[in-house]
This record gives sequence, structure tokens and C-alpha cells, in this order.
Amino acid sequence: MKIITTIHEMQQTVDELRQIRKKIGVVPTMGYLHEGHLSLIHLAKQHADVVITTLFVNPAQFSPTEDFDKYPRDFERDKKLAESAGTDILFTPSTEEMYSPDYLTYIEIEKITGVLEGKIRPTHFRGVTTVVAKLFNITKPDVAVFGQKDAQQAIVIQQMVRDLNFDVRIMIAPIVRESEGLAMSSRNVYLSEVERKESVVLHQSLQLAKKLIEHGERNCSLIISEMKKLISANLSAKIDYISITEAETLEELSVLQDGNQALISLAVRFGTTRLIDNILLTI
Ligand code: PAJ
Repeated sequence: MKIITTIHEMQQTVDELRQIRKKIGVVPTMGYLHEGHLSLIHLAKQHADVVITTLFVNPAQFSPTEDFDKYPRDFERDKKLAESAGTDILFTPSTEEMYSPDYLTYIEIEKITGVLEGKIRPTHFRGVTTVVAKLFNITKPDVAVFGQKDAQQAIVIQQMVRDLNFDVRIMIAPIVRESEGLAMSSRNVYLSEVERKESVVLHQSLQLAKKLIEHGERNCSLIISEMKKLISANLSAKIDYISITEAETLEELSVLQDGNQALISLAVRFGTTRLIDNILLTI
């Protein structure tokens, strides 16, 4: 596995690869890799000749009060995991390499970034779309793989790719979970033992919603209130939101109708750790 830290070398390398008709796949990450990230690398490997994993903790997507400084980092471990999963090139630029002191350009997607995560983290998606657009220009991929774990991020990136005519195929990989159901996340290391046990309730609440819908329930407030009841039984859980929206437009649904693609998503804080999870259902 080759490690590249400069934009110039990365662009030169992909230019050479594209000249010999290699198909490029990219997997953007912020590191502290886990099985969820590795599943994206595996998927990219199936659809590309050369897989670039990017590892960059992007300051632009953290607000000043968020965990940028203490975001978990372990470069040696990430290097081994990325390589063992099949990464050919690890692109790991410094903050200064990505954002020069005179940096001024940001990409903003309207409407769908103002709800759910975007409502609570108003500058988050502008940081995500900006860095992903930069990574696309730097790695020039044919295919880019993202995870369903960050459902709104996946929707926002697909919108950006359509709107700005990025010539890249976006693939969304399913959520990888711990055996008890907790969605894997780099932030799970923040959880205390008790919080970790309690956090299993997130997946359980999504499964409860699925079961209610399978049994014919169509009233979204009622489904949400059953989920709230289940989650709130855990003392350390503080719900930021639970929401049922149309999966592409992210418009709130009040009554489910046949043919709806519904995204049930939630954000819940356990102590100082904020976890998100979701399920996508075709009604
Ligand atoms: P990060 O949180 O490191 O996640 C990198 C990619 O891994 C994202 O596409 C995310 O959805 C996916 N992922 C995380 N946990 C997953 C899981 N349990 N199952 C499947 N996929 C999972 O998301 C980001 O970084 C950043 O916002 C980034 C896109 C890199 C831009 O900075």
C-alpha cells in the first residue's frame, strides 16, 4: 500500500493510473477505522482496479463546540487495517495541505441540509460536501463508496453529485453493526460500559418501528412515540430527534403510504456521546 500526503502527488498518481485505464475507487474516511469502513473498502475493491482510502479528520465539518480535537486517531492501526482490507493507496493529507490559510470556498446544498442532523449541526454538511468535492477533484474516482450509517450524508452527497455533474458513481453500503446491534462508529469508543449496554436500544427501537409497520401501523407520530418510550427507559439516553421522512427529499411523513420509501432516523446522546442510526423501509 502506497501512502500519499500531498495533493500534487495524489493527482499525478491518479492521472498515470487513468492513462493506463485503471478504474479508480475512493473511500473517504476520517480514520479510526472499524469493520464499517472496511466493508466500504471491500465494496470499492469489487468495482475498481485501484482503491484509494482517504484518511482526513476534516475540521470544516466540526463546529467549534464539537469533538474535532479529541476525535479518535490511530494512524498506525488505520494503516494496517486499510491495507489488510485491500487499499492500494492511502491518501492522508495534513489540514494545511487541504485548507491553505487563504481558503475561501465552500459548497452548500440547500433544503436537505437544514433538517435532521443539519438542524442540530448547521455548518456540518457544508464542511462535508466541501471536503468530499475536494477529495473527488484530488482522487478523480470512477466510483466512490459511502455508508448508509450516515444516511443524510449519503443523500446530500448524491444530490451534490447530480447538481454539480461530478462524473463519479456513488455507491451506498449497508450499515455494519456490532453483534448486539449497535451500529459501528469511531465515536463508540467514547461510551462508558453502561452507556454502551444501553445504546443497543437504538437498533431495538428501529426494529420495533419496522415491526409496527409490518403489522400495519401507518401513523408516524404513534410509531415515533413507541420508539421514544423504549429509548427513554434507559437513564443515560437523551433523544435529539427521531424522525420519519421520505428517503430522498427528507420531507417529514405523517402517514405512511404504499410505495413510500421511508427513512426512520434518530440521534440520541449517551452522556456526551452522540450516536446516530437509521433504517430504510419500503412501505
Ligand atoms: P467517517 O465517519 O469516518 O465515515 C466514513 C464512511 O464510513 C462514511 O461513508 C460512513 O457512512 C461510513 N460508515 C461509518 N460507520 C459505518 C457503519 N457502521 N457501517 C457502514 N458504513 C459506515 O463520514 C465521514 O467519515 C466523513 O463525513 C467523510 C465522508 C469522510 C467526509 O469528511
